[in-house]
Amino acid sequence: MFYYYGRKKQIIRHYPVPNYDVIIEPFAGAASYSFHHNSIAKQVLLIEKDEKVAAIWTWLIHDATEREIQTLPELQPGEKSSEFLHIIHAVTKMAFAFKTIKVTPVLARNWEISRRVFAKHLHEIKHWEIICGDFTEAPDIEATWFIDPPYSGESGRGYRYSSTLIDYTMLANWVLSRKGEIICCEGEGANYLPFTPLIDLKGVAGKTSKEVIFYRQGKQRQRQQGRLFEPPIQIFPPGEPATY
Ligand SMILES: C[S@@+](CC[C@H](N)C(=O)[O-])C[C@H]1O[C@@H](n2cnc3c(N)ncnc32)[C@H](O)[C@@H]1O
Repeated sequence: MFYYYGRKKQIIRHYPVPNYDVIIEPFAGAASYSFHHNSIAKQVLLIEKDEKVAAIWTWLIHDATEREIQTLPELQPGEKSSEFLHIIHAVTKMAFAFKTIKVTPVLARNWEISRRVFAKHLHEIKHWEIICGDFTEAPDIEATWFIDPPYSGESGRGYRYSSTLIDYTMLANWVLSRKGEIICCEGEGANYLPFTPLIDLKGVAGKTSKEVIFYRQGKQRQRQQGRLFEPPIQIFPPGEPATY
C-alpha cells in the first residue's frame, strides 16, 4: 500500500502463491505479499512491532475514508515534513531515525503514487487485521505465513526494531513450528534455515544482491498432491555452517 524500506513489491511475484484463505505477515512492514494476493475471500492478519508502522495500518484499516484520502495533500520538493507516513516514502533506513525530512523529487513522486494506491485500494483492505506487537504474538493457526524479518545481515540493521534484536535460532524454530504453508525471506549468506536461491537483484552501480527463500508446503497442498510425509529439518546455531 505504501513505499517502505525493504518492501517486497518489485519481486513479490517470484514467491509462491498462497494456498490458504488466511495470510499472516508477522513482520508486516508495507505488507506487499498480502496486498499482491489480496481478495475479499482472503483473511489477512498483519503483525508489526514498530508502533509508527502499525499506526499507519490501523489508520488505513479502521479509520481512513475515501474522502479523507482524497484530501491528503501533495508534497512539493523542498518543503519539510514531520509526518512519519511521508518520511518513509524516502525509502531509506535513515527514515526510521529522521524526525523531519526535506522532500526530494523522488519522495514527492513516491508519495503521489501512494496517494493514488490508497484511493484505489482502500476499500479492499478494510477486512484486514493489524496487531501492534512482536511476531511471537501471532495466533498459532493454519495459514499461509509470509515471514519477512529484518535480514540477519547489514540490511536488517536499519529498522527501529532491527536485526540486532532478533535471535535467529529462536526465529528459525518458531518458523518451523508454524502450521500450514511457510514462506520465509532472507538475503544471501543467511543460514539459520535451509534457504535456497530465489532471485538476483540488480542494484545501483552494477551491484547485485541475492534473495533467498525457505519454503514449506502446507498440508492442504500436500493433500492435493497426495503427499503427507515431510522430512524433519535440523536447526544450527547462527554462524555454524549448515549441512543439509
Ligand atoms: C523486511 S520488513 C517487512 C517488509 C514487508 N514484507 C514489505 O513488503 O513491506 C520487516 C518488518 O518487521 C518489523 N519487525 C522487526 N522486528 C519485529 C518483531 N520482533 N516483531 C514484529 N515485527 C518486527 C520491522 O519494523 C519491519 O517493518
